[in-house]
Amino acid sequence: MKLFLDTANPDEIREANSWGILDGVTTNPTHLSKEGRPFLELIQEICSIVEGPVSVEAVSTECEGLVEEARQLAQISPNIVVKIPTIKEGIKALKILKAEGIATNATLIFSPLQALLVAKAGATYCSPFVGRLDYVGHEGLELVRQIKQIYDNYGFPTQIIVAAVRHPVHVLHAALMGAHVTTLRFDILEMLFSHPLTDTGLAQFLADWEKVPK
Ligand code: E4P
Repeated sequence: MKLFLDTANPDEIREANSWGILDGVTTNPTHLSKEGRPFLELIQEICSIVEGPVSVEAVSTECEGLVEEARQLAQISPNIVVKIPTIKEGIKALKILKAEGIATNATLIFSPLQALLVAKAGATYCSPFVGRLDYVGHEGLELVRQIKQIYDNYGFPTQIIVAAVRHPVHVLHAALMGAHVTTLRFDILEMLFSHPLTDTGLAQFLADWEKVPK
């Protein structure tokens, strides 16, 4: 499973990239707003750090505007993936962008039928927001399971990005289900490295090493 960082913070991206396990980045307007930097300059910097896909959101709500924004975003760097909202106008845009060879990420997916539609329209990625569903009493991961089954049933090449991840167990189940990608915050990515038994085990081995005659 690929791991993307869900952020627009270049320091976090640089740090995670140095760990050798980062496959890409997803941004959104909320992440960008937190950085307080000019949009283009920030996206260019992010694209220069990671080799993998960098999702950037188009903000129009009409097909024509989305397509035009996507064409401009795609020119920033070859690793740009354009996030398209999963609305009727967005789904129309996905079809056009597929024909133009522009990579897309259908965002704000909350139902398996939305995922079916974006796959039919040729989305490169689809992003179910699992944590946001959990917060309203629906099982976000169940949505991922259903999308995976639909895509497997019909051989859709659209890749599932498990998004709005809230804790490591979301990541675990995404991997067990065979999701293609999980995108996660920096703090959650860091949590994946840790286990208290690793820390105490290492401390014990290092202490015992001191007792070994050299
Ligand atoms: C995914 O691409 C989104 O940027 C993201 O996961 C949104 O999640 P949130 O609910 O943490 O804002």
